[in-house]
Amino acid sequence: MNSKNTILVTGGAGYIGSHTIIELLGTSDFKVVSVDNFSNSSAKTFERIEKITEKKVTNYRIDLCNKTDLEQIFETEKNIIGIIHFAAFKAVGESVLHPHKYYYNNINSLLNILECCLKFNIPNFIFSSSCSVYGNISKLPVKEDTPFGKAESPYAYTKQVGEEMIKDYTIAFPQLHTIALRYFNPVGSHITGLIGESPLNKANNLVPIITQTAIGKIKQMTVFGNDYPTRDGTCIRDYIHVTDIAIAHIKALMYLMEKKNKSNFSIFNLGTGEGVSVLEAISAFEKTSGEKLNYIIGDKRPGDVGAIYSDTEKSEKELGWKPRFSLDEMMETAWKWELEQSKKN
Ligand code: NAD
Ligand code: WQD
Repeated sequence: MNSKNTILVTGGAGYIGSHTIIELLGTSDFKVVSVDNFSNSSAKTFERIEKITEKKVTNYRIDLCNKTDLEQIFETEKNIIGIIHFAAFKAVGESVLHPHKYYYNNINSLLNILECCLKFNIPNFIFSSSCSVYGNISKLPVKEDTPFGKAESPYAYTKQVGEEMIKDYTIAFPQLHTIALRYFNPVGSHITGLIGESPLNKANNLVPIITQTAIGKIKQMTVFGNDYPTRDGTCIRDYIHVTDIAIAHIKALMYLMEKKNKSNFSIFNLGTGEGVSVLEAISAFEKTSGEKLNYIIGDKRPGDVGAIYSDTEKSEKELGWKPRFSLDEMMETAWKWELEQSKKN
């Protein structure tokens, strides 16, 4: 492989982007450049990436919604052969309150980067999609060929529209080879505990809420409902370690570069296939951290589905990807990252 091959990672300072850059640098096949305006992250992430990998990553601090600035990067970086597009806003609740913010950022940035793929002849493109495209689904485990359900939020709708846009581009421009990776519930942090979920963000998801409660940033957490038709009454999700997600991006990139794709637009679920309830997640955290969690059982959260988990057959067979981290390791690394952050504050 040509050692000058460059992979452009958008959202490289973010939670999943930063873990993916570490894995990309670990293969030593690629030069990596990032585009991130730090709207939900900070430049410190690159110092931490450098500490872990002993490699420097160039980040272009521009807004992907600015097409002129974006094109300038492609004029400068001549060897880009693939793009992994993470950059987007992702807070489901906020997207209901401020839909324009989500449509503007997530759709414009995708459109601009797809236009650059065409203008600068970039053949390989990977898109961060989400299990939220399935909507409120009852047939489990969820397979990739399940049609979209009703989007439960503007955020989820941006992922559905995003996938449709990419599919249409590949039909019109078959030189473009693309993959949408539908993440289930990414959790945990790098095994060093040096990077993790963005410290800028108010915690919205279960695992950061658990660790922030344990450290005392949140006084008490609430389990949203315990009368779902599940084994212990709490919601079931498919939690997946962020490093496993990162590794899947390398597999997806190689799949495209080695021309193993059967279609110009392929979709893969990224989950473990194992459903875990909220109480089971809490119990795994308490066991691995030795901390007792202060929680109460509260009302259901509007819009929550009782259970969702992934069918993993397609990603295992076609990408050759199988998650390696256990639930205990997800909790251990999430806790390590929380402790690391508390050292600095
Ligand atoms: P994140 O917020 O940590 O990272 C996104 C990064 O993109 C941030 O660093 C932000 O500063 C940057 N960014 C956003 N808009 C930008 C713009 N216009 N120009 C330049 N930079 C911009 O989010 P994440 O958890 O790493 O998620 C990455 C992707 O995966 C997103 O597309 C998200 O929707 C998707 N996803 C995330 C989850 C999850 O639970 N974390 C689940 C499914 C899908
Ligand atoms: C997990 C479980 C809650 C907080 C979201 C997005 C989805 C995808 C992944 C981006 C649920 C319960 C949570 C709390 C709780 N993201 N919970 N108390 O809702 O499955 O998925 O993140 O694409 O699109 O919707 O994740 O972490 O918010 O919740 O009991 O304080 O934890 O009810 O069952 P969710 P989550």
